[in-house]
Amino acid sequence: MHKVFLPLFALAALIALPASAQKKGDAAKGKEVYEQCGVCHASATDEKKMGPSMKGLYKKTALKNGKKVTDASVAAVINKGGEGMPPFEEILTAGEMANLLAYLKTL
Ligand code: HEC
Repeated sequence: MHKVFLPLFALAALIALPASAQKKGDAAKGKEVYEQCGVCHASATDEKKMGPSMKGLYKKTALKNGKKVTDASVAAVINKGGEGMPPFEEILTAGEMANLLAYLKTL
């Protein structure tokens, strides 16, 4: 019996691994999501396009709305949009948002 259960547990652990990685957000996948933002937001330079550059976003002390830069405050801006930015609430899945936030942190 034990010989059967052990490999099963190992298999379950392998399957569970990518799922937990997904929760944290995958910056490489987030870069693909960011293609929807790149039209309006520069990422490599400080250039202002339609919106402000996302370069160093998480190093800023505050967002334009005065909120501290956190996953929650950034996600709120992305979800709600406004002032020329479209809302992404119904466009991005929770997984895509997590990946996007992970990518924004690398900028
Ligand atoms: C059609 C153009 C457009 C698109 C597409 C767009 N944005 Fe924006 N975004 C803007 C504008 C314009 C602002 C500035 C709004 C303001 O002045 O309050 C903004 C503001 C922001 C802010 C707040 C910046 C700050 O310092 O307060 C963040 C974060 C942001 N956008 C992220 C994103 C992300 C991530 C995406 C892609 C999912 C995205 N935006 C897509 C136009 C856009």
